[in-house]
Amino acid sequence: MIGFGKVRMVRTVVDGVLQEQEDEAIRRAGYIHLYGVAEMSALLAARRGLDAVTASVAGMLHDIYTCRTGLRLLHAPSGAEDARVILRDLGVFSQEEQQRIHSAILRHSDKERVDDPYDELLKDADVLQHYLHDPTQSFPPATARRIRNVTAELGLPAVEVRVSETKPTAQAGSISLRARLADVAEELARQPLVGDENQSGPDVWPLIRYFPGARRDQGWDWCASFVYHCAVQAGPILPIRYPGVSCRFAAVLAWLEWARLPEIGFFHPADEPGFAPERGDLIVYDRLVSSAEHDHIGVVLDRDDCTLVAAEGNVSNRSGVFRRDRFLQVNGFIRVEDSYRYSWP
Ligand SMILES: [Fe+2]
Repeated sequence: MIGFGKVRMVRTVVDGVLQEQEDEAIRRAGYIHLYGVAEMSALLAARRGLDAVTASVAGMLHDIYTCRTGLRLLHAPSGAEDARVILRDLGVFSQEEQQRIHSAILRHSDKERVDDPYDELLKDADVLQHYLHDPTQSFPPATARRIRNVTAELGLPAVEVRVSETKPTAQAGSISLRARLADVAEELARQPLVGDENQSGPDVWPLIRYFPGARRDQGWDWCASFVYHCAVQAGPILPIRYPGVSCRFAAVLAWLEWARLPEIGFFHPADEPGFAPERGDLIVYDRLVSSAEHDHIGVVLDRDDCTLVAAEGNVSNRSGVFRRDRFLQVNGFIRVEDSYRYSWP
């Protein structure tokens, strides 16, 4: 059974991720939920005439980012990137299978929206597993609706689903997003964080652990990971990779490409007339630590007419606060709007 062989291969990867998770509660919840959703997905695929292997693998991988990192925030788009890397490395899934699984995981948190058949299948399998695991818990209205619909589709007697009250939207704090980002970056930069001989270790691991392939004993040039970590702590909240951008936020290029997207538009070239960098802007350098373009990034803390002060990670494998020439080696700035929230259509 060739198709089922692929399911077994993914199980081996999933087991590996779960076994590495130190938090017992996350590990246990991972086994129950990922495999539970995989089996609900296979059931719904049979019911809907869809491919059971694609559905089952999407189910198995849909919360893999949370199981790997322990983080739930934006786990759908970040998990889609984790799944993409896993499927690419296994090398046995067709482009179509990879695309369907990626799309389903990317969209699975949005239970209110109706998407493509495999996206819908994963959302329904997800809510069904949550419901069957504990039918006494309360669910948001859109999830409760799905539970009623999917159980009816399976011919089960009408079920009673508790509906939770809609949570009020979180109020933005009084401190602006860019101010928070700068505060976090400054604090971390001043500690300082110091990498071990493999650019990892206890100080650097928290910065790189978000990204697939991160290892406690082997890191990478971590200036962009430093900025991403500050963003996760303080905002803007971003998934590990932005859809349509060629690499993950562990690379400076990802920040540049993201900021230059027409729908984002946060990039300001170094020589833009009238633009004056402010605390909380990101600063991208060219040829600062190597001979390459966009080879370094930091967070602006302060400036005067001639110099800039920035909090940066991985300057000779240490974080720090640096005063530099206002224009020398500067590619440009990224000014994230305070009202920015990640969303993907
Ligand atoms: Fe889930």
